[in-house]
Amino acid sequence: MKALLLLIVLIAVVPCVQGQLIANIEGRKTISLDGQWRTIIDPYESGYYDYRYEPSTNGYFKDAKPRTKSDLIEYDFDTSGSLKVPGDWNTQEERLLFYEGTIWYKKAFDYQRKENTRLFIYFGAANYIADVYLNGQKLGRHEGGFTPFNFEITDLVRDANNSLIVKVDNKRRRDAVPTLITDWWNYGGLTREVKLVETPATFVHDYFIQLQKGSRDQIDGWVKLNGTKLAQKLAIRIPEARISKSFATDANGFARIHFDASLALWSPDNPKLYEVAIQTETDRVLDQIGFRSIETKGTEILLNGRPIFLRGICIHEEAPFRGGRAYSREDAVTLLGWAKELGANFVRLAHYPHNEFMLREADRMGIMVWSEIPVYWTILWGNSSTLENAQNQLSEMIARDKNRAAVIIWSMANETPVGDARLAFLKKLIERARSLDSTRMISAAMERHYVDDKTEMIDDPLGEYVDVFGCNEYVGWYDGLPEKADGLTWKMKYQKPLIMTEFGGEAPYGNHGDAMTRWTEEYQENVYQHQLSMLKRIPFLRGTCPWILMDFRSPRRPLPGIQDFHNRKGLISDHGEKKKAFYVMQKYYREMATTSSK
Ligand code: GCU
Repeated sequence: MKALLLLIVLIAVVPCVQGQLIANIEGRKTISLDGQWRTIIDPYESGYYDYRYEPSTNGYFKDAKPRTKSDLIEYDFDTSGSLKVPGDWNTQEERLLFYEGTIWYKKAFDYQRKENTRLFIYFGAANYIADVYLNGQKLGRHEGGFTPFNFEITDLVRDANNSLIVKVDNKRRRDAVPTLITDWWNYGGLTREVKLVETPATFVHDYFIQLQKGSRDQIDGWVKLNGTKLAQKLAIRIPEARISKSFATDANGFARIHFDASLALWSPDNPKLYEVAIQTETDRVLDQIGFRSIETKGTEILLNGRPIFLRGICIHEEAPFRGGRAYSREDAVTLLGWAKELGANFVRLAHYPHNEFMLREADRMGIMVWSEIPVYWTILWGNSSTLENAQNQLSEMIARDKNRAAVIIWSMANETPVGDARLAFLKKLIERARSLDSTRMISAAMERHYVDDKTEMIDDPLGEYVDVFGCNEYVGWYDGLPEKADGLTWKMKYQKPLIMTEFGGEAPYGNHGDAMTRWTEEYQENVYQHQLSMLKRIPFLRGTCPWILMDFRSPRRPLPGIQDFHNRKGLISDHGEKKKAFYVMQKYYREMATTSSK
């Protein structure tokens, strides 16, 4: 039954612009292209540009072979190296750890086309720019290292020996998103799954099925078809709830859907997912969807109408134990399992959209999610292509995860400097997000300032436009010593809920000393103890998200014997060892869980 489920995949014919991705690749008929791919490391992009730095018409994408003994071909995928996909290249070979540039990937495959079907190539993500070719033809380009994209190859695929070539370039650029400096490793490559996806000639292209904003019994959304037979009968079925509603798509293949539904609502205590079927005359899609309402009321965050406190933890998409980019369901289950063990009901996936397994497992495990795009630190606010790029990444993030009940907050940015150009830029992102999804809360991780040495003020002008305020502070680490937190008072200009989206300190696991000695577990523990007593005194605080669940690789952290190019602010080491501060946070969350109905 499941195998027949045809999931949708968004097509993006050449060039791949804003992705209208279909969530739910899981159930469609797919063929994985994961495994070893042939690769050519090309630091000077000789496979793309000629010696005049003009794009060459005869580049590596031709996958050429000498036809005569005199032919001059200066590359050969099939006798070159190989790398595993999915996977970043940096942790697969010592010589590539610091490599930033271009690597060409080649995968050969055969494929028998079936009547009345279409074929797409789907990438979970490629960091940072991917130029994709099939049989020498350019399919398109995708920019952005953390969101999926796909191309239709129905008319290009051949029965045997298809040559799929991807040029992946992770060079950092000032006008990119993120820009030149990040406190995370710039892992390059085909970092997530690659699949062939088969659909009917006219298929369910995209859909949005969630509770209407502020309602707990009205389902509101839409379905969009893609193909030649666009005007069709359509049914939405939720068998377990005995719901079957009929609609019809218009001449553009679009149908608005709206109906009453009394359903068990999704929550951390009861992460109820329903099997939802979208049945058309030519296609059938099944998805596991939870239904919950999320909103703010003054300084309260209401989940299903009831105030809730977000017991959170920040997570980078770094693989536990083996290091490198995380990409698998196992990675997700391990990381979210640790968050649960900490007592968390909420995770901030920093600072970019994580792989879909993280969102699906959060749905299943009942963990609420803050999802963010990498508008990080000082982006080129005045640059129109930077804005378009950020808007595109935002749209792709929302497109993939809009049917996940776990996602409660879309975050536009992290620690961006107050200023007019920045405000204008972020307001445009917020407009885009609200136009794509009116059901979730909008936020950003912002900064605060002192109005006097004892008073922290939160009054970022962006606060006007968000639903929930995120604030990062490092009292006791970058800002004074741990006990400084004891005397601080927090003020906020807005009557809105506050989530302290980052706080903490660093210590490599097993490094011990007294509570005032930097880099020791005792100092980190000391930071947390003072932090928590300060946080408990903030009346409008509705969530906490310590930085960070697990140590992660960072190019900004060279301190030998302590950091060794890792940020050691994890409550858990990258080998899964829990530090003393982990138990301070766990005790606080357990008390919260028992004392408050929140
Ligand atoms: C910043 C930033 C993180 C960074 C952290 C740190 O606030 O948002 O990306 O890793 O602080 O300095 O450890």
